Amino acid sequence: MAQPRVFEIVTAASLLSMMLCSGIVKGATYTVGDDKGWSFNVESWTNGKKFLPGDVLIFNYDPTIHNVVSVDQVSYDTCTVGSNFQVFESGHDEVTLPNTRGWSYFIGNKTLGDCNNKMKIQVSTF
Ligand SMILES: *[C@@H]1O[C@H](CO)[C@@H](O)[C@H](O)[C@H]1NC(C)=O
Repeated sequence: MAQPRVFEIVTAASLLSMMLCSGIVKGATYTVGDDKGWSFNVESWTNGKKFLPGDVLIFNYDPTIHNVVSVDQVSYDTCTVGSNFQVFESGHDEVTLPNTRGWSYFIGNKTLGDCNNKMKIQVSTF
């Protein structure tokens, strides 16, 4: 009697892993800052959230005055953009977190003072 149930579980598990490997199952999607979007003091928006590799962050903002720059930890801490960075500037950017566990850092730097006004987030996928 137990046999069919085990078969079902194994089938479901292998289907799920196939879907995960082929990328059919997408990560969770988060709107950074919720209703406020990518804005000053957004830094604390990450508090209590558990992100996973492959999750998608959506950054909503006015692209005439703001942007999103993916940076390293030093840049994040000092609000200066170093040599290794990627700029997003559409105003509605969908950024997929790396498939490996680790930290990701984003700051705004289009208008002087954006980052210092806490238009910045650090995201852990550990
Ligand atoms: C933002 O960073 C880029 C790349 O380093 C730099 O060219 C630009 O001047 C910076 N913008 C501001 C407002 O600091």
